[in-house]
Amino acid sequence: MTRTISRTDSFAGRAHLPADKSIAHRAALFAAIADGPSILHNFPSSADPQSTLSCLRQLGVPTETSGDNSVIIHGVGRTGFSAPDAPLDCGNSGTTMRLLSGVLAGQPFSSELTGDASLSSRPMQRIARPLRSMGATISLTNGHAPIRVQPCDDLTGIHYKLPVPSAQVKSCVLLAGLWAKGQTIVYETVRSRDHTERMLNLTIRSFDDGRTIHSDSSHTVPHGTFTLPGDFSAAAFILVAASIAGTAPVHMSGVGLNPSRTGLLAVLRRMGANIQISNKRTSGVEPVGDLSVRRYPLHGVTVRGEEIPNVIDEIPVIAVAGAFANGVTIIRDATELRYKECDRIKATVTNLRALGAKVEEFEDGLAVTGQVPLQGTRVSSYDDHRIAMAMGVAALGVHGTTTIEDADAAAVSFPEFWDTIAALQA
Ligand code: S3P
Repeated sequence: MTRTISRTDSFAGRAHLPADKSIAHRAALFAAIADGPSILHNFPSSADPQSTLSCLRQLGVPTETSGDNSVIIHGVGRTGFSAPDAPLDCGNSGTTMRLLSGVLAGQPFSSELTGDASLSSRPMQRIARPLRSMGATISLTNGHAPIRVQPCDDLTGIHYKLPVPSAQVKSCVLLAGLWAKGQTIVYETVRSRDHTERMLNLTIRSFDDGRTIHSDSSHTVPHGTFTLPGDFSAAAFILVAASIAGTAPVHMSGVGLNPSRTGLLAVLRRMGANIQISNKRTSGVEPVGDLSVRRYPLHGVTVRGEEIPNVIDEIPVIAVAGAFANGVTIIRDATELRYKECDRIKATVTNLRALGAKVEEFEDGLAVTGQVPLQGTRVSSYDDHRIAMAMGVAALGVHGTTTIEDADAAAVSFPEFWDTIAALQA
């Protein structure tokens, strides 16, 4: 499906966000391995969390869905999975594949995890290496999926220093630790999103140069009722759209504000954005609040170093904000972006250049010179939800009309994105 968007002369109102994708995967997985039922309210219909739910069903976890977006998961405990009778299809979802691999590493049955073309090209050695050192027998296909996991009932805990600041790798190892003999301690020097440790209530120790997170087989996995917060990474597109094209404030309620996810707020405020947070509260273990944003002149900034993991999913849309800002916006230390659902550095650079932007590409990032006049054209989503939505945001501010190819990729995390944009334009 293609989407054609014209430069907007009206952008205001209230946006409803899907529930947080990262939290939804974890809520479902953790509920499945808990000893008892959980009710997850506001569970998203987005493709990625639905991939996690369908894999869990294939592993014999009873789930019920209700019309009000609630999912009931009857936890089977740590020994209650049944052997899947077919490969577990993780679709486009890296989080499903990497977290589930941690869970499957210590099961008494074999399993196979597969994914779509994009997921099958993403690096999986980063999880296979630590899982093997715990005693798991994992085989990859040239470093990628399909992943085959052999039965194993004697995982051993490890002390593991994360070689990349990745919440997926961290979570994979900590989850495997729930089936291992002895403690598993993951050491991170650069903070990545912390939903796993919060939601599992794992022990954390902080040091001058980082922190350790601990899991072991005696840890009790919490369960119960949880309302999933709105996805800050979905809000990001609306925050940038309203900052560059808003004609009156845009409001969003119940947005997840976990500090390990909200680096974009600091970046946009450094650019001069006008964003208000109100009604701060918590939803379970996750901070939540309401956001209001109105258009304001932006200026270029540099984003690099330890800030990158916190804004990793927001970088394509930060580059779009940079194209409308006064001065140069520079992103460095972000090579990880090349290993996402597509090579997001290349995709962002190619699309912004197609619109007429002045963009320099680096191996680890890009520099975009803002306020060069942009003209709508055809751009590609590269079948990547965040590239599709970032281009949808750019289209609101460029002259003429922009056609986004394979725009339905947005459904991976924000199925109502195009309708939401249209409603805010109306
Ligand atoms: C995620 C972690 C990040 C992020 C991805 C979701 C998660 O990936 O890019 O969209 O839910 O843990 P990495 O952990 O590989 O950086």
